[in-house]
Amino acid sequence: MKKIAVFASGNGSNFEVIVNACNNDYLNAQVVLLVCDKAQAYCIQRAKNHSIKTFCFNPKKYETKDLYEKQIVKILDEHEIDLVCLAGYMRLIGKTLLEKYEGKIINIHPSLLPAFKGAHAIKEAFDYGVKVYGITIHYVDESLDGGKIISQEAFSYLGNDILELEEKIHALEHVLYIKTIKEVLEEKINESFN
Ligand code: GRF
Repeated sequence: MKKIAVFASGNGSNFEVIVNACNNDYLNAQVVLLVCDKAQAYCIQRAKNHSIKTFCFNPKKYETKDLYEKQIVKILDEHEIDLVCLAGYMRLIGKTLLEKYEGKIINIHPSLLPAFKGAHAIKEAFDYGVKVYGITIHYVDESLDGGKIISQEAFSYLGNDILELEEKIHALEHVLYIKTIKEVLEEKINESFN
């Protein structure tokens, strides 16, 4: 059975969907670790509810990014993690993590990349007045929301209610993320995955 670590900084709805997909055997995997950089984030509570181990760290307490990433690599190694799923992790992944885990880290982003990269993708797309929205799941490299695209889904939204739009996006994310994780784990996508 493959072992997954989820990295999150906030609400953690995608984290919870991945956990549930493992628990109900949709995924032949187990979420064994949550990595979180914010002590107050709700995802930590979700992890507790599921008795999932959390590594919570404060980046400000480390002199360099390399130092906290070394710590993360150590914990990923200890747990023999096969796949890292970023789910609202508000930090760029750096060299130290990529050296060891590149090709095994994926991210979900609430826009049709390469459009609307960054932390405010939904609002920026909405303010721009786009008519077709979407989500992207991609491998992670050192760039912001860069890396090879694995899957995308688009939909048309002509309304004027950003909360409704956000709900639609999150609902779509919750379906496409676990479907894509399944394909990645079953090696249908990345032949080099082991
Ligand atoms: C999602 O919209 C995801 O695409 C983005 O951050 C959000 C995380 O939501 N990267 P949640 O914390 O999983 O509810």
